[in-house]
Amino acid sequence: MTEKIFIGVAWPYANGPLHTGQIVGAYLPADIFARYHRTAGNQVLMVSGSDQHGTPITVRAEQEGKSPAEIAAYYHQEFLETWRRLGISFDLYTSTGTDNHARTVHDIFLKLYERGDIYKGSMRLPFCTVEERFLLDRYVEGTCPICGYEAARGDQCDNCGNVLDPVDLVDPRCRFDGSRPEIRESEHFFLRLSAYNDRLRKWLSSDKAHWRKNVLNFSLSLLEQGLRDRAITRDISWGVPIPLEGYEDKRIYVWFEAVIGYLSASKEWAQRQGDPEKWREFWQDPRCKTYYFIGKDNIIFHTLIWPAQLMAYSDATGETYNLPYDVPANQYQTVRGAKASTSRNLAVWVLDFLSRYDPDPLRYYLAVTMPETSDSDFTWADFVRRNNDELVATWGNLVNRVLAFAYRHFDRAIPTPAQLLERDRTLLHHVEQALKRAGESIAACRFRAGVEAAMAAAREANRYLEDSAPWRLVAQDRPRCATVIYTSIAAINGLKVAFYPYLPFTSQRLHQMLGYRGTLESQGWKFDLPRPGQHLAEPEPLFKKLDPGIVAEEEARLGV
Ligand code: MF3
Ligand code: ZN
Repeated sequence: MTEKIFIGVAWPYANGPLHTGQIVGAYLPADIFARYHRTAGNQVLMVSGSDQHGTPITVRAEQEGKSPAEIAAYYHQEFLETWRRLGISFDLYTSTGTDNHARTVHDIFLKLYERGDIYKGSMRLPFCTVEERFLLDRYVEGTCPICGYEAARGDQCDNCGNVLDPVDLVDPRCRFDGSRPEIRESEHFFLRLSAYNDRLRKWLSSDKAHWRKNVLNFSLSLLEQGLRDRAITRDISWGVPIPLEGYEDKRIYVWFEAVIGYLSASKEWAQRQGDPEKWREFWQDPRCKTYYFIGKDNIIFHTLIWPAQLMAYSDATGETYNLPYDVPANQYQTVRGAKASTSRNLAVWVLDFLSRYDPDPLRYYLAVTMPETSDSDFTWADFVRRNNDELVATWGNLVNRVLAFAYRHFDRAIPTPAQLLERDRTLLHHVEQALKRAGESIAACRFRAGVEAAMAAAREANRYLEDSAPWRLVAQDRPRCATVIYTSIAAINGLKVAFYPYLPFTSQRLHQMLGYRGTLESQGWKFDLPRPGQHLAEPEPLFKKLDPGIVAEEEARLGV
């Protein structure tokens, strides 16, 4: 039975290049998940887009002397290039700058306003008397009132992860001139989150055994403290306008509208498919499972605020919108033990990486070190070791030895086996189980376990090959040699599928080397015995061995 799977991936701020920490946190797990489900024959819709609004964009624009629109457009193009080169296979990657997005946001805003879930109020905000303007979110810095971290931003503390109200900062200062802001009143719109506390708690307390413990516990503890209503508009001129008269100098807060991107992108996708109502299959059919791939700093927005927005919108429209089925948020991947930092150049930039190395080794390394349950650290030495010992020596060598042998000794084709022996069948059974386990692991969002299952079976296949020594058999016992090579090719053919979500470029190449046409994805998530006599293409190595000397070179590029 085919399933419907909606995959929403965090919308990155279009204010700077992407680093591997963002990839391993959200984009790679989402892509592995999407590729698995597509191969398994399920109907997948994976969307995201560039987040063009908010102070991260305007701060960067001010620093570079450009307009926010220029900054957003520039990085949006760069992100598209990144997805293409890294193989992140969105069904649609759009942006929050489209008319369609603004329309969708306006519809939700107005429906919630009519119902009273959005209401007018006044808000106390830091005001910079030097620059004569309100200081929003990141424009004001100070000491976190919760953990005491001294460089907390007005909207969120990077140390303890709590979402903050800028007026609560201890020792607040303007980010630009260091002056101490005054607190002034300003009229704004508020989202009545307090009314959803109990419903959210009920929802999070049933059928959530498949959620990651930290995600669930963090969300429940916030509900325990009680959600407060939040301002969802700002004194700023960059963002989605407020769809009511008299608020021309204010905009909708980025966090209220960015999450709506999941819905607006789905509508845009349907429109582009020539089937404008098709988004409903993913949003309104309760059988569709909706997943949100994000980093841990985004948890509250996806497990509490966005679900509350959806509940309110469902009530207001009388239609039901699916709540998140799972939010498998990752922890951080650090570099030199620290969170990625642009200013200190403490990050591995994806496009820079891909200018020297291939995408699959990066995907592999990030998958095996994915911070699923705790932070992990990116190190170049570990990358080189994993590439050389695992990708090249285990998986790549297996493929290369077997296919080169068949190409040479069996007339460039898959040999016809004699009777399979017990140990041949044992290997094939092992691979079949590994394929099944990898699929189950991925479906359960345990991505490390999935790739480990595939690699363990590749090691098994190498042992089989060593023990069977076809290079000795070829002169002595050709039928047995043909059987060993056939069995090895069958194992590789199964492993190719198990590795595919992680290593899409090399797996597709291998698919063709094995003599298949078309896409690996269309073959299905199943263990197929290859057809004896099928022609092989000339084998080429899947991976390159890396010189350990690059570790020092790459380390030298990093800041300290
Ligand atoms: N741009 C924000 C961030 O990078 C929000 C991402 S997720 C969204 O943290 F869905 F809310 F947009
Ligand atoms: Zn803090």
